[in-house]
Amino acid sequence: MKILVTGGIGFIGSHTVVELIENGHDVVIVDNLSNSSVKVLDDIQKIAKRRPVFYEADIRDKAAMERVFTENKIDAVIHFAGLKAVGESIQIPMEYYHNNITGTLVLCDVMRTHGCKTIVFSSSATVYGMNNVSPFKEDMPTSCTNPYGWTKLMLEQILTDIAHSDPEWSVVLLRYFNPIGAHPSGIIGENPSGIPNNLFPYLARVAAGILPCLSIYGNDYDTPDGTGVRDYIHVVDLAQGHLKALNYATEHKGAEAINLGTSRGTSVLELVKAFEKANGVKVKYKIVERRPGDIATCYADTAKATELLGWSAKYGIEDMCRHGWNYMNKK
Ligand code: NAD
Ligand code: UD1
Repeated sequence: MKILVTGGIGFIGSHTVVELIENGHDVVIVDNLSNSSVKVLDDIQKIAKRRPVFYEADIRDKAAMERVFTENKIDAVIHFAGLKAVGESIQIPMEYYHNNITGTLVLCDVMRTHGCKTIVFSSSATVYGMNNVSPFKEDMPTSCTNPYGWTKLMLEQILTDIAHSDPEWSVVLLRYFNPIGAHPSGIIGENPSGIPNNLFPYLARVAAGILPCLSIYGNDYDTPDGTGVRDYIHVVDLAQGHLKALNYATEHKGAEAINLGTSRGTSVLELVKAFEKANGVKVKYKIVERRPGDIATCYADTAKATELLGWSAKYGIEDMCRHGWNYMNKK
C-alpha cells in the first residue's frame, strides 16, 4: 500500500516509516520540520535501504496537501504531525489548537476529496485525565488538564464524528503511553532540542554528563517507592503497533480507540536503576517537589490491542534503556 505519514521525520514517525518500508509499503512523508531534521531521511534510508518520498510542507497548507494527494495515490494515512509539549501548550494554546486541530481538519478534508478514508491517529494516554485508576481501559471516562491534551481529546471526537457521518471511513485512535528508547541500530532515536521535559531524555543527558543532576518530582506518591509510575514502551514496539493498526483499519470501518502500552508500571527510581544496570553508568539524582499536573500511577490495560490488533509489546525496560543510550552515544 502507499501510506502517507504526516510527521514522519519525527521520533515515533521515523521508526514507523522504517517498519512500513521493511514490510513492503511505499511511504510518502509530509513534515514541516518544525521539530525535526531533514537528515533523518538519510538515516531512515540507511536502516530500511529505501528512501521515502518527502514533501517539506505544513499539513495546514491545503494547496500543498492537494499536491501530495494528486501526485500520489494514497491508500491510507498515519497521522503523527502535531505539537506535543504540555508546558508550551499552556503558554501558546492558540498555536497548539491551530496546528493540531486545523491541521487535522485540512488533512481529513483533502483525504475525503481524494477518496482516502483510512486514518491511524496519534492520541495519548493523557486523555485519561487525573481521575481514573490504572490500568486505564479504553472505555473509561476521558478528560484533560492542558491544551495539548485537549487537542488530542477534541481530535478523537472529531475523527469519531467523521467516521459516524460516513460509513466508508476507518479511524484508529492510538493512545500511546510513554514511548522511549531508540532503534536498535542506534541510527534513529529521540533528539529533543533544548533541555528535555520528559524523564527518559533528561535522565540520559545526566548519565552522559550533559546535565548535572536529575530532579525526581516527588517521592511521596502512593506508589511502592513513592515516585511516579508510568508505562514505558519501546518506540519500535510502538511503531510495530501502527502496522497492526493499519492492517486493522483496512479491514474494519468505523472508529476505535486502542491503548498502546505494555501494561507494566515502572517507577522513576526503577527506571534510573534499570538505566544504570543496562548501561553500566551512574545517574545522579535528587528528590524535589512534585510537578503540578502529574498523577501517581499511569499504565495501560492492553487487552484491546491484543484482541483487535494481535499486538503486544516485546521489549523490556532494560532494552529501552540500552537502545536509548546506544543512540545517544552514536549521534
Ligand atoms: P515529534 O515532534 O518528534 O514528531 C512530530 C513531527 O511532526 C515533527 O517532525 C514535526 O516537525 C512535525 N509537525 C508538527 N506540526 C506539523 C505540521 N503542522 N505540518 C507538518 N509537520 C508537522 O513527536 P513524536 O514524539 O514523534 O510524536 C508524534 C505524535 O505522537 C504527536 O502527535 C504526539 O502528540 C503524539 N504522542 C507522542 C508521545 C510521546 O511521548 N512522544 C506520547 C503520546 C502521543
Ligand atoms: C508527559 C505529559 C503527557 C505526554 C507525555 C509524553 C505532563 C504532565 N504529561 O507525561 O501529557 O503525553 O509526557 O510526551 O507533562 N519526572 C521526573 N523528573 C523529570 C521528568 C519527569 O521525576 O525531570 C517524572 C514525572 O514526575 C513522571 C515520570 O517521571 O512521574 C514521567 O514523566 P514524563 O516523561 O514527563 O512523562 P509523563 O508525565 O507521563
